[in-house]
Amino acid sequence: MSIHIINLIYLISASLFMLGIKNLSSPATAKLGNKLSMSGMGVAIAATLASPEISGFTLIIIAIAIGAAIGGYAAIKVEMTSMPEMVALFNGCGGAASALVALSEFQGTTSGFESFTLLTLLLSIIIGGLTFTGSLIAFGKLQGIVSTRPITYPGQQVVNAAILTLTVLLSWMVFQNPDNAFAFFAIIILALALGVLAVIPIGGADMPVIVSLLNSYSGVAVSMTGFALNNNALIIVGSLVGASGLFLTKIMCDAMNRSLANVLFGAFGKVDESTVAGEGPTGTMKGFEVDEVAMVLENASSLIIVPGYGMAAAQAQHVTREIGDFLSEEGLDVRYAIHSVAGRMPGHMNVLLAEADVSYDQLYAMEDINDDFSNTDVVLVIGANDVVNPAAKTNPGSPIYGMPVLDVEKSRTVIVLKRSMNVGFAGIENELFFMDNTMMLFGDAKSSLQNVLNALKE
Ligand code: TAP
Repeated sequence: MSIHIINLIYLISASLFMLGIKNLSSPATAKLGNKLSMSGMGVAIAATLASPEISGFTLIIIAIAIGAAIGGYAAIKVEMTSMPEMVALFNGCGGAASALVALSEFQGTTSGFESFTLLTLLLSIIIGGLTFTGSLIAFGKLQGIVSTRPITYPGQQVVNAAILTLTVLLSWMVFQNPDNAFAFFAIIILALALGVLAVIPIGGADMPVIVSLLNSYSGVAVSMTGFALNNNALIIVGSLVGASGLFLTKIMCDAMNRSLANVLFGAFGKVDESTVAGEGPTGTMKGFEVDEVAMVLENASSLIIVPGYGMAAAQAQHVTREIGDFLSEEGLDVRYAIHSVAGRMPGHMNVLLAEADVSYDQLYAMEDINDDFSNTDVVLVIGANDVVNPAAKTNPGSPIYGMPVLDVEKSRTVIVLKRSMNVGFAGIENELFFMDNTMMLFGDAKSSLQNVLNALKE
């Protein structure tokens, strides 16, 4: 097939990717978005196989079969709550693939390459290499194989900066002398080391942000490989992944009211009590029984359900939907308020509620529902903590001060389901639990909700 037709097909595949990403932005169209992106990938693979540079298919078909079998099995088996781990591994594979393709171009010398090609090859190896090891550490932290606490030591940033400077210096040496195989391989080792050293000081709970950033890096590495191989599909797709990963990272940082620098270098998760200024919550915490909670719900006419990480941990999404449906049938106006960083990964609550078949039109983003809390009878907070903490608005000394939060305390009654008075991700107390209009129902969210549902049905 002529290169012009192949480039035209690559353009079609890139358009499918863009349409796919566009559709992924809403839960209602996300499935279509996935299908469009899959078709884009299928079209790109077919065009690549039809390219005149491909001389034999046997090895390619074996590689595709192995990759598809592993990827397909992993995608079917993975638990929804383990999705960040899987994405971390796939990002790592993307980075490694780009670096390996770039490496395969190197035949003991880089002489004969144009400067631009050499630059993109080196960037592909450096970015791909650090994405690979960084993603493996992120995977290890999410799985608990590597310590989830930030691993820090004095002069850490200086060491990382020194490695980066040395890598740049060695790259310059390769430019000066393309036969310098020692410098070339030293660059690979340093890039791999940098991935590990840059991710270990970051706390386990910040890993979704890092996975998203590494996703962006893997896209940049793919794009660099595309420039080195003069392959338009890789350039476009790599840029798309690079840009969308970066936007997602920014959206997550904004929703947590933290800068990317704070996530990367702040060692968040090492709780520094001195930063938690203020007197702490006043008021009295009031625990209630299942029957009392059921009675409040029975007498309400409007309800907003606010899910958080605890709903995911308890796998309470199905019983949450059952309670929502039951109360809807009883005549209550039932809606769900979704905070963009509730849980531990982007779209965590949307994915779980979609899995439980909660209707999309009942889901409201924070900015669309925050004004309605003051007109609402009851808010049911299911395992959410930081995203409903009023300290984000009232306590300038709080680590989450400035983070946009759900105004649940403005409703007539707030029912909070959690197991204890333990803190959430940010490690701080929540004055909501001590407010006059708050009722605490202690216990695992799934069994508490099941008990409330049973009481409602009696
Ligand atoms: P958190 O503030 O982490 O609070 C979750 C609460 O759930 C805990 O206080 C815990 O209290 C409770 N819980 C845990 N297991 C439970 C169970 N089985 N049954 C009932 N309750 C349970 O959660 P959130 O409000 O969703 O906020 C998310 C936090 O994660 C934010 O600080 C956000 O910045 C951060 N974060 C989010 C993301 C993304 S992308 N979503 C990424 C990185 C960081 P008990 O132990 O007392 O039960």
